[in-house]
Amino acid sequence: MPSVTLIDHPLIQHKLTLMRQKDTSTAKFRQLLEEISMLLAYEVTRDLPLEKVAIETPMTTMDAPMLSGKKVVLISIMRAGQGILDGMLELMPSARVGHIGLYRNPKTYVPVEYYFKVPADVAERDMLVVDPMLATGNSAVAAVYRLKETQPQSIKFVCLLAAPEGIAHFHAEHPDVPIFTAAIDERLDEHGYILPGLGDAGDRMFGTK
Ligand code: URA
Repeated sequence: MPSVTLIDHPLIQHKLTLMRQKDTSTAKFRQLLEEISMLLAYEVTRDLPLEKVAIETPMTTMDAPMLSGKKVVLISIMRAGQGILDGMLELMPSARVGHIGLYRNPKTYVPVEYYFKVPADVAERDMLVVDPMLATGNSAVAAVYRLKETQPQSIKFVCLLAAPEGIAHFHAEHPDVPIFTAAIDERLDEHGYILPGLGDAGDRMFGTK
């Protein structure tokens, strides 16, 4: 069954409200996205496998839990995925990183791939695909189809805001990939933007408008 997990911790909701406000500065927007991304990372990695390793504390020896297996791979859907990536790397500095570049054709909204680089050994890794906005779902759907070709151990999709239309589209194409989001908004407008949303995440993050 397709799953959507709403990560609505009070700290996330508060920070997201600050991000939505149109007068929030570029610097503040970036900082808030990074902070929320750390909190999202904490939740989406809840089920990472652990193994016991023998260690010595200053007092005695013990078998203590550590993450087992290869490091997680984070995939940023360029360019807005960068904001979530930066926050998640704060929490998981050893994670591997890949990038996929897609742009939306402004008339058809159909995604066009212009960049693709992922670690060679993703087949042995769990993958978190990050993009702040799940709007029409076109980019996320195309990115995940492309990433599935690399056969990672598992894939999760993590965003900040999702539109119901984007969730439906994504799960129709990828029912096996769970979505994690900080909020589910009302709907899309006629240009494929999320309402009430926060505007263009890339422009707000990089100050390009
Ligand atoms: N991408 C954005 O940055 N914002 C939206 O509302 C939709 C897609």
